[in-house]
Parts: sequence; C-alpha cells; structure tokens
Amino acid sequence: MQKTTQLYEGKAKKVYATEDPEYCIVSYKDDATAFNGLKKGSIAGKGAINNRVTNFLMKLLEKNGIPTHYVEELNDRETVVRRVKIVPLEVIVRNIAAGSLAKRLGVEEGTKLHSTVLEYCYKDDALGDPMVNEYHILAMQWATKEELDKIASYALKINKVLSDYLKAVNIELIDFKLEFGKTSDGTIVLADEISPDTCRFWDSVTKEKLDKDRFRRDLGGVEDAYHEILKRLLGE
Ligand code: TMP
Repeated sequence: MQKTTQLYEGKAKKVYATEDPEYCIVSYKDDATAFNGLKKGSIAGKGAINNRVTNFLMKLLEKNGIPTHYVEELNDRETVVRRVKIVPLEVIVRNIAAGSLAKRLGVEEGTKLHSTVLEYCYKDDALGDPMVNEYHILAMQWATKEELDKIASYALKINKVLSDYLKAVNIELIDFKLEFGKTSDGTIVLADEISPDTCRFWDSVTKEKLDKDRFRRDLGGVEDAYHEILKRLLGE
C-alpha cells in the first residue's frame, strides 16, 4: 500500500491517505512535546520504537478480543491502519496515582489506588484538553451512551491485558491514555498509539521511570528508557 496525500500532522505522527479510502498510513516522528506543546524536543529513535511497541501491543490486544485499527507494519516507522473518525476523547486509565492525578488530589506519586480510575479529556489543544465527564460527553454528542459504554469496557479490559503482560517483564503499568475511532460501518476500534509516550511504565522492582516522564521532567536517560521498553517487550 502506498501513501498518497498527507491528511494530518500531529505532535508525534503524520497520517497519510492511501489509494484505498478504508486505510491510512501513520508515520511516527522522533519529535517530542509536553505540556500541550510548550516544551519541544526530539528523542532519537523514538518514532521507530513507538511504532514497533504500539503494533506489538495492538496485536496482543487483538488476540484478547479488543478490536484495533492495526493492519500491517510497513517498515520501522510506518504502519497501515484502518481509517477511522477519532472520537474526540483522551481515555485515561490509572492504577497508581501519578502525574496530574497525584497533583489534583494532593497525594504522593506512587500511592496505590484501591480501584481503577477512568478519566476522560476532551481532545482540544486550544482548550488544553479539559477533563470532562460522561454527562459532558453525551450533552456534546462526542459519543453516544452505547459507544461510551463500549469504550469504557474496552479500556478496562485493555488495562487488565496490558498490566498482566507487562508484569511478566517487570514493568508496572501506572497509567495510560487511549484513543478510540469509528470505522465507516460505525464499529468502535482502539486507535492512536500505546507507547512510552502515552503510558507510565515503572520498573516493578526499582520503580525507575521508563517512559516520557524522563523527557517531561528532564530526568535524563530518555533514549535508554525507550530502548529498555523495546527490549523488554520485543526482546531487542
Ligand atoms: P497525566 O497524569 O499527565 O494526566 O497523564 C496521564 C497519562 O496519560 C500518562 O500515562 C501520560 C498520558 N498522556 C498522554 O498520552 N498525552 C497527554 O497529552 C497527557 C497530558 C498525558
């Protein structure tokens, strides 16, 4: 499958049309941003790692009954995906308090949550992706009740599958962000990426951060952390 016109350029990926209206090609960049684009930089090799990690995890999820947009990895950075209309929500799943939740609730990062927390943010850069609840989503018709119920149940199942898988390679899944899309026939599928850009991964034993927080917080060792995730998941 061949790229035709560029449809969209985001902070970490470009999306191209193909000759087939049902499919797109995503191309992962090394560019990194944080704090809604305020902090800018680049992480050498990130595009290739995020492409491969995302595809590996999407395949794992497919095997466990979660429909995804994944079709075929073309090369290091590029993947064919089903063309979807993105539901304009960031779906955040949390197992341990960290990041904005720790700040908002005034608890120490690393505090165990006694049950899983599901949050939604409205995807709008100009508004800074504000947190919204189910009532806002239905009132604004960003998704129907049926779609939202499906999204929530997929998100919780994804949390279980990923947490269990990662535990076996000594990674604790602290929290992560998902995006869902709708295919031309209205099916809800998992879209976007699942990578160290969009998840908090801590070493189970040392609690070392192996994700984008190393970039956000200037902790150093950013590239090494991304490589470590690739190695633990794909063995290379
Ligand atoms: P937060 O604690 O900053 O709200 O982040 C929660 C999770 O969502 C964390 O794993 C990082 C991920 N995330 C994104 O993927 N994109 C974003 O723009 C933000 C703010 C967080």
